[in-house]
Amino acid sequence: MLVHLSSPSGREIMGFLNFLVLLSLYFAAAASEGGSHWCYLSQRCQNQRCLEPRHWVQEFEECGKSQQSPINILTNDVKYDWDLKPFKFEKYNAKPEKPWTVVNNGHTVQVKLDGTAKIESGGLQGKYKAVQFHFHWGDSEGKKSRVSPGSEHSIDGKRYAMELHIVHIKENFQTVEEALSKNGVAVLGFFIKDGNENEFYEPFISKLKDIPFNGNETEMGALCLEALIPKKSALDSFYRYTGSLTTPGCNEGVTWTLFETPIELSLRQIQEFWMELYFDTDKEWPMVDNFRPTQPVGERIVYKSDSNALLAPGKILLLIPTATYFALTLIQ
Ligand SMILES: *[C@@H]1O[C@H](CO)[C@@H](O)[C@H](O)[C@H]1NC(C)=O
Ligand SMILES: [Zn+2]
Repeated sequence: MLVHLSSPSGREIMGFLNFLVLLSLYFAAAASEGGSHWCYLSQRCQNQRCLEPRHWVQEFEECGKSQQSPINILTNDVKYDWDLKPFKFEKYNAKPEKPWTVVNNGHTVQVKLDGTAKIESGGLQGKYKAVQFHFHWGDSEGKKSRVSPGSEHSIDGKRYAMELHIVHIKENFQTVEEALSKNGVAVLGFFIKDGNENEFYEPFISKLKDIPFNGNETEMGALCLEALIPKKSALDSFYRYTGSLTTPGCNEGVTWTLFETPIELSLRQIQEFWMELYFDTDKEWPMVDNFRPTQPVGERIVYKSDSNALLAPGKILLLIPTATYFALTLIQ
């Protein structure tokens, strides 16, 4: 039997073109959702296609390299380094005249700084200026009275409620991107523990309710950075290693400092972060657990500042049997 094929009518062609347009829109949408959209593990239910930390490497190659952050610091393995002298802080105690802009960027709450506050010494070469700070935090573990830890780094497996990162770039660079490409980024990391109410944080924390959604920003009178961190006398003990940004692109060559003494915030103050902020532009997904899991330390050495290190009783006790052993081998 001969099948007679009629030529397609204009109507059919229009229908087919519509179909093609819809098809390409569908693929474009799928690509932009699944594509460069990275997220934290706590966001997986919100968007099945977003890349959670274990998959960042699919889009951001550097996230799979061997000198990544954060890490777990094993205090038994640290090397004491006498060159890690206390930091010198410049204008950390000055209140900038220009107000701060506080931003919910969909991953954290961040404040851009004008670069007038600087650090030097602390084992760094030259001066670094503070360009922004932001936080990482956890969740309530179901009960509102419990803190599940949200710090990125840990010490002997112990994590803290939150972590503050003050990002600095070498004085002569203009942007973080430029500094990243030349190993010119130094981050000061501070653990935050659940403890006493911290009045210095109140002006900042009280602003969080004004920026619930991704892209929201608000202004506030600038604070002294010094007021947000432990007192200077508590900052001589710190860890130092070379790592990366803890968010994509995970650029390496970042000089990390983690101070031993934590900042204290009350449980209520920590809760404000979980309760006022959201990942997206509606109230469905509270911004919680915005931390990257720890990465392999690999060949890296973590250094510790501590001028008293050699006087530590444990070390002296170790030296006695060693010295005795060598003395005995000499006698023989
Ligand atoms: C916050 O973001 C939401 C969603 O994009 C927007 O509708 C709202 O106007 C923003 N509010 C402020 C204060 O910027
Ligand atoms: Zn950070």
